Amino acid sequence: MAVNVIIGTQWGDEAKGKTIDILAEKSDAVVRAQGGNNAGHTVVADGVTYKLNLIPSGILHKGTLCMLGAGMVIDPRVLLSEMEKLTAYGITFENLKIDPRAHLIMPWHIALDNLSEKYKSNSGSSIGTTGRGIGPCYADKYERVGLRIYDIAHPEALKTKATATGELKNRIITEIYGGEPLDIDSIIAEYAALGEKLKPFIDDVSVLADKVIKSGKTLLLEGAQATLLDIDFGTYPYVTSSHPISAGVANGAGVAPNVVDKVYGVAKAYTTRVGEGPFPTELKDDIGDYIREKGQEFGTTTGRPRRTGWFDAVIVRHAVRLNGITDLVIGKLDTLSGIETLKICTSYKKSDGTTLDYFPSVLEELADCTPVYEEFPGFDDDITAARTWEDLPGICQDYILKLQKLCGCKVSMIGVGPDRVQQINI
Ligand code: IMP
Repeated sequence: MAVNVIIGTQWGDEAKGKTIDILAEKSDAVVRAQGGNNAGHTVVADGVTYKLNLIPSGILHKGTLCMLGAGMVIDPRVLLSEMEKLTAYGITFENLKIDPRAHLIMPWHIALDNLSEKYKSNSGSSIGTTGRGIGPCYADKYERVGLRIYDIAHPEALKTKATATGELKNRIITEIYGGEPLDIDSIIAEYAALGEKLKPFIDDVSVLADKVIKSGKTLLLEGAQATLLDIDFGTYPYVTSSHPISAGVANGAGVAPNVVDKVYGVAKAYTTRVGEGPFPTELKDDIGDYIREKGQEFGTTTGRPRRTGWFDAVIVRHAVRLNGITDLVIGKLDTLSGIETLKICTSYKKSDGTTLDYFPSVLEELADCTPVYEEFPGFDDDITAARTWEDLPGICQDYILKLQKLCGCKVSMIGVGPDRVQQINI
């Protein structure tokens, strides 16, 4: 029996999908615990590329119980369209379960996400959200006016709640933002029809996960987004609205934190970020462009080009501490091939000359920091066919050993390409 957690250690898009898929194959059940379709996982299996936003990639393995936990925010239109696309590949959903407590992304959440971003952009303070309604949906959850998965499958509850909330949202949309009002009645009718389709999948994920654990099976808790996007411990306000750290993932799944065995933290061999916000090791030069093109750093969800930069050991140490990471997974090492000199940020230097070896708690302090780099000779070898530690050139081994030492955590997997077989276990 094991309960494993997988989380991102940087700003997301660390190629978690691939590691999740590898671990999901060895798991009896998988729970996605927070976030919504702001996440995008790409999994390449048997030559087919699957792009998943809500459904755990465990769905690709017949017999794996795949659950969407209470901590998620779910857009039912997106969920059903994702199911339709997977159906075309012969995937079936008898093992898909959705917690009735998960919150529903309503059309007004999406409208308000985009209107608020546009409004903020006038003062240069937009966050660069994915525009999927994530923040407004979580805001309603915490204001305790949200609609939940239970409601979509119960037409009377849906009508009462959506009418009350929808009218208020329409006033905000039109009177505050000058936007177009939404047709609440047609939203209710559309959601009721979607609810009919989702009804068979609704079940208590916390109880199901407990059964998996008690029967001695293996459960994987799948985090979306990443540590530096955590609402408390990320680069606030340039963060998402949930807790993508291991404690948040256990909470969102409805699983006690003390049952967790291993916490896998995924990092790229460099760093990327989408959207606005600070990024100390960002490269705005040819090397940054090279990494973007070679690593195909364009968002799975929005297609936006990702910002790229050197590996920042300060942020990954922050992630190791916050998440209790037991195993680091370093992805996309192959992308760095062809760069003459590699750099790793080992600490930050403040303007008063002092050195900081942990991530500052607020952006005002981070603004006073510049990265301190250690340089490494680069490598030209094509390492995409490497399957063992010994297959890696000595320079790559040194780079990984350095990351391991700087981050204070064992590296147990290395990714050398997008396919699930392009992985080295150490
Ligand atoms: P939101 O989650 O759509 O509200 O976006 C808030 C911030 O988190 C933006 O900078 C997004 O680009 C970022 N973000 C949200 N989800 C992901 C993800 O899955 N990967 C990378 N960045 C993300």
